[in-house]
Amino acid sequence: MARPTRFATVAMLDAVPPGTARAVWADGVPLALFNLGGEVYALDNVCPHAGGPLVGGARAGPCAGIVVCPWHGWRFDVRTGESPDLPGERVRTLSVCLKDGAIQVAVEVPPAGSDPTARPSTPPGQS
Ligand code: FES
Repeated sequence: MARPTRFATVAMLDAVPPGTARAVWADGVPLALFNLGGEVYALDNVCPHAGGPLVGGARAGPCAGIVVCPWHGWRFDVRTGESPDLPGERVRTLSVCLKDGAIQVAVEVPPAGSDPTARPSTPPGQS
């Protein structure tokens, strides 16, 4: 059974202008935001190969919609999370909502008693 979700504000839209990416946190989970021509997409910011920070990767493909992991070069479509090269490999994507100039992503409601604010001080790929 799917866990309930809520939308959490992770950044202001003007902090992620078109053509850029930004690492953010949502309830302790590192995420990568990509703005492709005004459409914002959210993915886990952890490469499924060995944990590389996707937000730090080069961009390629139509409308720069492919991100290349900076550690070993696996590629993912930021719109779907799927690898164009490795069938079955993908990064989790999250639903995005823009509200009052803020970027919100759908995150799972944490279990009762957990600390959703516990996280390292710097998101992966961002210094
Ligand atoms: S960690 Fe991303 S390709 Fe290896």
